[in-house]
Amino acid sequence: MSKIVIRDFTPADFEGLSEVWQLTNLGNPARGDNLQIIMQSIAMGGKLLVAVDESNKVIGTNWMTFDGRRIHLHHFGVHPDYQRKGIGKMLTRESLRFVKIKGYQVKLEVHRNNLPAINLYKQFGFQYLGDYDVYIIRNLSKIEA
Ligand SMILES: CC(C)(COP(=O)(O)OP(=O)(O)OC[C@H]1O[C@@H](n2cnc3c(N)ncnc32)[C@H](O)[C@@H]1OP(=O)(O)O)[C@@H](O)C(=O)NCCC(=O)NCCS
Repeated sequence: MSKIVIRDFTPADFEGLSEVWQLTNLGNPARGDNLQIIMQSIAMGGKLLVAVDESNKVIGTNWMTFDGRRIHLHHFGVHPDYQRKGIGKMLTRESLRFVKIKGYQVKLEVHRNNLPAINLYKQFGFQYLGDYDVYIIRNLSKIEA
């Protein structure tokens, strides 16, 4: 495999990153994850790591947002052509380095059937938290206020 580098996201990566998100089903437009949101999350103390190949093409991503209390790990994906080559592990290792330096607990959501991701998270020490379901309000017009 060609040389893979893990580095911080820059705005020039957005197109390549969006492609990886589409291919790995992380890029649902309903989530509203655009460049402005990404840059805002980084300014607030988060970090978006990308894996790039020798030609600087984005082939993996791992996004950590920080809310002042915890780090939330999401948008973890590796381009399908590059999966099962250890890039997910590289991204996770680098992400947890950031978590440790920052000094806050790290949390994530994963679908219960997503065994590739669950296997990987467990290898790195993540523990199942319990039978929680996940709720969200996407459409703010649903809020009666
Ligand atoms: C999860 C994902 C990022 C893993 O990336 P990857 O680069 O393929 O992972 P690696 O090659 O570093 O593999 C690391 C570990 O993941 C697990 N794993 C990866 N693919 C797997 C598969 N198809 N089946 C079972 N375990 C798998 C294994 O434990 C593996 O370690 P091992 O090779 O020592 O057994 C990748 O499968 C992906 O992009 N999936 C789609 C997006 C997604 O679901 N993201 C997670 C959202 S919570």
